[in-house]
Amino acid sequence: MDRKASMISRFILIAFLGLSSATLCAQTPWEVPADRNIKLSQTEFADQNRNTGKDLYMTNCKSCHGEPGKNNAIRLVPQPPDPATVQLQQNSDGALQFKISEGRGPMPSFKNILSSADIWNIIAFVRSYNKDYKQQIAVRPTFGGEVFDKVSIQLSQEQGKTSVVAMVTGERGGLKKPLAGLEVKLFVRCYFGNLIVDKPIDTDANGKVNFNVPNNLPGDPTGKVALFAQLSNEELFGLVKTEAVMTIGIPTSKPPLNEPRALWNVVQKTPLWLLFTYIICVLAVWGLIFVVLFKLKTIFELGKAVRVDD
Ligand code: HEC
Repeated sequence: MDRKASMISRFILIAFLGLSSATLCAQTPWEVPADRNIKLSQTEFADQNRNTGKDLYMTNCKSCHGEPGKNNAIRLVPQPPDPATVQLQQNSDGALQFKISEGRGPMPSFKNILSSADIWNIIAFVRSYNKDYKQQIAVRPTFGGEVFDKVSIQLSQEQGKTSVVAMVTGERGGLKKPLAGLEVKLFVRCYFGNLIVDKPIDTDANGKVNFNVPNNLPGDPTGKVALFAQLSNEELFGLVKTEAVMTIGIPTSKPPLNEPRALWNVVQKTPLWLLFTYIICVLAVWGLIFVVLFKLKTIFELGKAVRVDD
């Protein structure tokens, strides 16, 4: 039963994906922009990266690409390659990072699903199936001719509630310096995924960005909203991100999804008239079935009686 169900869902997936997107870009080679092709990870792939990458691969990629080296990828057009194959391993680290981030056709884009660090972790795992692979690590990032130990964002709340300030600073040897001209994005955490607030904005000469936050953001019962800001250009410093909880939303008391009153717990929420109508309908159907069975029994018995008379 389980297998059958999974086969059916697989079939639907294949049919849907195959029809929807594959045809146009099926056979053309997958172009990777030159600057992305030469991109390298800033950290060395260690066992810890490979282990995290393995877990992430199993949850996000295995369904299509199969287990590496087992040649059990799902059949799609174009075919998702097994990570252990030359076809996949011949990609540069940057090309893998680009393809996983952007996706194409049935291959989903993961840049809004996985962090940049996690995409590199998956690449670390995938590379463990290539014994000829030697990792090259990116040189320390610089900005405006300076090398920094660390780049970070701080979030603060402007008086008057409608705007949130993000400040980007580079740090070296304990000294902080505002960084201008870096694009920052602000997000709100939601039940499912993240919602971008305002548009991405570049930092000004003081390293600052002012985001306008809509005044109708639903918050928790005290109006608190979980926000996070990150630099758009991950190429420069990797993922630079910060989180903050601010009282900028409208106080809302929504039951958590795991509470009995949540949307899909229908029994408690059903109106009584609906419940009764439903029960009556079910009883009527069963009643009809019993009537039919009873009549059949009567016919059968009548038939038997006739035969005895003979
Ligand atoms: C829904 C199915 C699906 C999922 C899930 C999926 N992929 Fe893919 N992937 C594909 C398909 C199909 C292709 C071939 C796309 C093409 O050539 O246009 C592909 C291509 C790729 C390529 C490029 C291979 C090449 O030939 O250069 C890489 C790398 C890749 N996938 C990695 C991943 C990783 C890592 C994940 C998980 C984070 C993942 N994929 C999840 C279907 C999937």
